[in-house]
Amino acid sequence: MEDTKILSREELKNAALIIKDGGTVVFPTETVYGLGANAFLEKAVEKIFIAKGRPQDNPLIIHISDINDIYNLTYDFNSSAQKLAEKFMPGPITLVVYKNDNIPDIVSAGLKTVGIRCPSNPIAKKFIEECGCPIAAPSANISGSVSATSFFDVKDELMGRVDAIIEGDNCDFGIESTVVDVTKESPVILRPGSITFEMIKEVIPDVKLHPSLVGERLENMKEKPASPGMKYKHYSPKAEVYMVYGEYEKILEWFLKKNNENKCLFMFSELIEDFKNKSSLDKNKKNVYDIGSEKNLNIMAQKIFSYLKKADYDGYKTIYIPAVEEKNIGFSVMNRLKKSCGGKVIKL
Ligand code: TXA
Ligand code: MG
Repeated sequence: MEDTKILSREELKNAALIIKDGGTVVFPTETVYGLGANAFLEKAVEKIFIAKGRPQDNPLIIHISDINDIYNLTYDFNSSAQKLAEKFMPGPITLVVYKNDNIPDIVSAGLKTVGIRCPSNPIAKKFIEECGCPIAAPSANISGSVSATSFFDVKDELMGRVDAIIEGDNCDFGIESTVVDVTKESPVILRPGSITFEMIKEVIPDVKLHPSLVGERLENMKEKPASPGMKYKHYSPKAEVYMVYGEYEKILEWFLKKNNENKCLFMFSELIEDFKNKSSLDKNKKNVYDIGSEKNLNIMAQKIFSYLKKADYDGYKTIYIPAVEEKNIGFSVMNRLKKSCGGKVIKL
C-alpha cells in the first residue's frame, strides 16, 4: 500500500467510508492509537494482521461507541461485567466476554471469547459512530514494537501499511487498556492498565490478578500466559533497555557514572536538578528524559512509550529506566517495562 491518507478530525466521514469499503484506518484513543477495520468483515480484519505482521493466534479487541452495543456481540453479560461496564466505560478498560456468532473467528483468533472496549476519546467515539459497525483494532504498531501514543509515532510505524491515519493528540493515558476476563463472576485481570487492580477491587472485591502477572518474568513462569498476546516479544525499541532498581542516592550515582552521549537516562523530575548540579558532562542534558514526578506515576505511564521511541529517533544505544513500586499504576507501568527490558535488570 503506497498511499496512506492523512485525515483530520473533521474528516471522520471519509475515514468511515474507507472502513465501509473494507479498508484499514488508524485512529487515536485515550490509551494508544488503534489500527481499525470493520469487525464484521473477515477480509478487512485480515488486513490488520498483515499491516502489523501480527501472529494469527493473537486475538483482536472490538471497539464500540455505545456501551449498549455490547449486547450485539455477546450472549452472556453477567453482573460483574455489568458493574465494571457501568463504572469504567467509556474508558481504558477491555472486558473479555463470550462472543456470539456475529463476530468472525478471525477476530478472536478462534477463541470462544472476545475483548470489548468502549473508548472515551471523542475522536474515537465519533469515528466508530460514523462507521456504524464495531471496529476491531489492536494497538497501531508493528508487532513486537512499542505501541504508538502520538500522531508522529504512529506515522513512523504505519505510513504505507494502512489506508488512512486520523490525526489526533497525544494519548491521555499512554499505556493500553486494562484487560479483564469477566466470563466468570469473579473477574480476572489479564493485562493491567490505567484502571488499576486497586480501582477494580473497590467495585468487585474478589477480582484476581492472573497468576502470570504476579511472578517475575513471563518466560520463567510455569503458568500459561494470561492472554495469547502476552507470550510474544513486546515493547522493544532498538536500543537496549535496562531497568535500574535502587535507592534514590544510588540511582543518582549510577546515572552520573553511566552518563555519556550513547546512553539515555529516564529520570524523575525530582532527580534531574541534583543530577544537573553534580554532572560534569553534557550541560544540555539532552540524554536525560523527564518522566514526571515520582509522586504521580500517571505521567510516567503517559510518556513511557513515546520516550522509548524517542530514544531510538535520537540514536541512543542504551536506555536506563528507574524501577517503580509495583502498586496502582506503577504495577501496570512495570508490567510493560519488564517486557521492554527483556530481563535486563540492574540491582544497586
Ligand atoms: O488500549 C487498548 O486496548 C488498545 C487500543 C487500540 O484500544 N488496543 C490494544 O490491542 O492494546 P492489542 O491487540 O495490542 O492488545 C490486546 C490484548 C492482547 O494481549 C490480546 O492477546 C488480548 O488483549 N486479548 C484480546 N482478546 C482476548 C481474549 N478473547 N482473551 C484473552 N485475551 C485477549
Ligand atoms: Mg499491542
